[in-house]
Amino acid sequence: MIRIVTDKVKSLRLPSTEVVLPLESRNKRILDSMLEYLKDTQKPEWREHHPKAREGVGLAAPQIGLNKRMLVISYQSGTEEKPTLIEYELVNPLIVEESVKLCFLEAGEGCLSVDEPHPGKVYRPLKVKVKAYNALLGKNVLIDAEGFDAIVLQHEIDHLNGILFYDHIDKINPDKIIPDAVAI
Ligand code: NI
Repeated sequence: MIRIVTDKVKSLRLPSTEVVLPLESRNKRILDSMLEYLKDTQKPEWREHHPKAREGVGLAAPQIGLNKRMLVISYQSGTEEKPTLIEYELVNPLIVEESVKLCFLEAGEGCLSVDEPHPGKVYRPLKVKVKAYNALLGKNVLIDAEGFDAIVLQHEIDHLNGILFYDHIDKINPDKIIPDAVAI
């Protein structure tokens, strides 16, 4: 049973520790249950039975009270005619390259661990390259991500360093305009 840790809990703000590879079966089981939970939150009938739960596209281990460098991501990307499923179980993910050009989510970011609204712009690199072990594929991967895909990866990796999306919002001018930043 998964219980989401909120930003009121100190452990969410702590850096997480590296996970030993080859992946131990108990860690694989944790990743599987995180992914199952995440996909459940996307089902309207599940949310009806869990009125307090919200829908998510990513979940990091610290959000279930485990300070390990593991995260899951799942959502439909692409066009309506040609949808593609973006789905990962990442272990020890590392951003190895990022663009100078920035982007932000027009609707603002949200987080399963953050209940209060935090309006403001969260600027992040538009493109990132992420190195990780993907437990879904059972191998090391190098993910080339751009736009929304890059934002989700960065948001989840931030959790492994105790960082929350609103830490990136300018305290004095939350809606600060950065020229050339791409609205997503
Ligand atoms: Ni989050």
